[in-house]
Amino acid sequence: MRVRPMIACIGLLAGALVAVASSTAQAAPTRYEVENSPAVCSGTIDSNWSGYSGSGFCNGTNATSGYVQFTVNASASGTATLGVRFANGTTTARPANLVVNGSTVQAPSFEGTGAWSTWVTKTLSVSVNAGSNTIRLNPTTAGGLANIDYLDFEVGGTPQPQPPGGIVGWATQAGGTTGGAGGSTVTVSSWADLRTQAQASGARTILVNGMLSGSGTIEVSANKTIRGVGANSGISGTTLNIEDMTPANVIIQNMNIRGVPGNDAIQVESATHVWIDHNTLSSTIENDPDFYDGMMDFTHAADYITVSWNVVRNHWKTSLVGHSDGNAGEDRGHLRITYHHNWFDRTFERSPRVRFGETVHVFNNYYSNVNNNSDSYAIASLMDAGLLVEGNVFENVQQACWSASGYADSDPGRLVARNNSLTNSGPCEINGTVAAIPYGYTADGVGTVKSSVTAGAGAGKL
Ligand code: GCU
Ligand code: CA
Repeated sequence: MRVRPMIACIGLLAGALVAVASSTAQAAPTRYEVENSPAVCSGTIDSNWSGYSGSGFCNGTNATSGYVQFTVNASASGTATLGVRFANGTTTARPANLVVNGSTVQAPSFEGTGAWSTWVTKTLSVSVNAGSNTIRLNPTTAGGLANIDYLDFEVGGTPQPQPPGGIVGWATQAGGTTGGAGGSTVTVSSWADLRTQAQASGARTILVNGMLSGSGTIEVSANKTIRGVGANSGISGTTLNIEDMTPANVIIQNMNIRGVPGNDAIQVESATHVWIDHNTLSSTIENDPDFYDGMMDFTHAADYITVSWNVVRNHWKTSLVGHSDGNAGEDRGHLRITYHHNWFDRTFERSPRVRFGETVHVFNNYYSNVNNNSDSYAIASLMDAGLLVEGNVFENVQQACWSASGYADSDPGRLVARNNSLTNSGPCEINGTVAAIPYGYTADGVGTVKSSVTAGAGAGKL
């Protein structure tokens, strides 16, 4: 539903605010060029694509046998940060197993970089022993590895990426999502100013100062970051509508967002490249399920979206992906969304409910008390959607996932589940296979998810 703006109310101005930046002193990493022994390149050391460092790069044999291996020296045991510099001039990711001292620890993807001469560094964290360690990339698809330039290695210096973390998932693909980066920064303390700034054209970072209430819709224009100041800023009564922009390139971060009676709180339609990160979204559950509409709804071929580190609490219709069983023509091949490290608490339906989208990636989320009645459920894959549901914690969830059974009037979708933890919860129903995830990511071990999500998710945690 689309509602035009109606009434602007002046919001409250919050007190003094302090921005905190943190930095960690770091020693320089050690660089291991792939062309220097004892590194091994199962392929050829080439120099025909510019931009490499040292005297060449590894062009691995285009097969799963075409590996690279580095031998690195760690000053101590612990967590090490790896920087793998690579180029992939194809449009297909070249995934590989990351093997440390003989054990596969991750499966990073080395996505297309645009050209063989465009080099990108992928950062990964692994545990290492003191002294010598082998770090190997074994390609897992017949295309083999991306071209590999070097490995930067540092133990201890850089902590594992934590919240606020970087952007991970679908919003990083096809050009990425940068919001208002490169534009000016403005601070708004009234709903009317927020609306003016959000609807203005051009790149802009809009800092929302205080809890601003107004009714109606703010039609966010392209290239915006809307970020709350401190822990207690945000909006109520308002729909943030992101519509008809490919790419939209919008980031919504660190906001408290209230459910909107009769409409969606965040509504993305026919728009791509949106990152919804570290927000606290809540309403009330005393009314009937339709009193509020969706909290975050993605429809009409919305695409390239990441929803990370949010708390969603006390809401019925949490996140609808694809609005109609009859909309395959527009939606199929789109609706690609990543949900990770969100805390869904007392969200009784649709966290998310997906039609057509593939592969919607739901990993490392914590679901608690999704058990209001016998129809409550967390995740549904419908109408041949494809979901990868990975490393999530379900506690007191009536039904963790629907897929093979369909749901309501919708036909079944596909769903692959792995490494989830279910306590006092109905099953995560699986069905068939889904397309591979093309981007690099690290799924946390499920044992750490509840503590990291409850500590790190929501507004005020950046
Ligand atoms: C091309 C390119 C190589 C690359 C190879 C591949 O041949 O020149 O540098 O390694 O493609 O697809 O792996
Ligand atoms: Ca090659």
